[in-house]
Amino acid sequence: MNKKKVKEYWDQRPCNIRHSPKPVGTVEYFNEVEDRRYFVEPHILQFAKFPHWKGKRVLEIGCGIGTDMIRFARTGAKVTAVEFSQKSLKIAKQRAKVFKLQNKIKFYQGDAEHLTDFVPIAPYDLVYSFGVIHHTPHPEKVIEQIRNYVRPGTVIKLMVYYRYSWRVFWILLTFGRGQFWRLNELVARHSEAQTGCPITHLYSRRQIRRLLHGYKIIEMHVDHIFPYRIADYTNYHYRKVWYFRWMPGPIFAWLKQNFGWHLLVTAEVY
Ligand SMILES: C[S@@+](CC[C@H](N)C(=O)[O-])C[C@H]1O[C@@H](n2cnc3c(N)ncnc32)[C@H](O)[C@@H]1O
Repeated sequence: MNKKKVKEYWDQRPCNIRHSPKPVGTVEYFNEVEDRRYFVEPHILQFAKFPHWKGKRVLEIGCGIGTDMIRFARTGAKVTAVEFSQKSLKIAKQRAKVFKLQNKIKFYQGDAEHLTDFVPIAPYDLVYSFGVIHHTPHPEKVIEQIRNYVRPGTVIKLMVYYRYSWRVFWILLTFGRGQFWRLNELVARHSEAQTGCPITHLYSRRQIRRLLHGYKIIEMHVDHIFPYRIADYTNYHYRKVWYFRWMPGPIFAWLKQNFGWHLLVTAEVY
């Protein structure tokens, strides 16, 4: 898998860049992006526990345009933000500037599979990576690199896409007419807002345990099903697709907790 393709893809369409129609880089734009993110994905707030990291050192791998990054910095963490896509990083830097949080964040552009080549080695309290390592050809290399930035007590929080999710089932039916042997190709193609993501790995709980060998897994759960009609959502309206509109709340909650798209893992170094 060509890394150049990965970088090009995220440079072309940084993650969540269309979360607001306002001019990119303005305060209004960033505020709307933030509102939309935590409205559509409220579980991120419970997962990241932003206020908990006040005064702590946070290494964020794959910060994208910096929505979680700015929350960590705003709540008082000292953040090191790493991102492969130059365009995404530029927007993240602009975000730090408009909110006057530049002194709280250090930025590094590069490939997290080779973190030690460009990020000074130092121990962190939290290593956070949301929806990133499954988009790099060798996620296991990122995990190995992370080992250089931890000490006993460091917490690692990762979100990866869940293999046995509603979303995978939906992609298979909608775009593949059930051709499960094309799963990897179909999922990569349709996993993101813009089609054609070059690589998207899927994980089961067992695969995560294997990937994180040597760490103590504190907590692992699944969450998040996107219930809105895409055509409405892209126009900033939140109308659910008919089956989610009629589905009783407790059933939807059960579905999310068992077949959600996000596998959320918290591990600790001991
Ligand atoms: C789905 S986006 C998530 C961005 C951000 N964490 C968020 O939740 O909004 C995936 C991000 O991972 C970054 N990425 C992919 N491979 C990477 C690598 N090898 N090293 C660093 N960042 C990488 C991409 O550039 C992209 O910004």
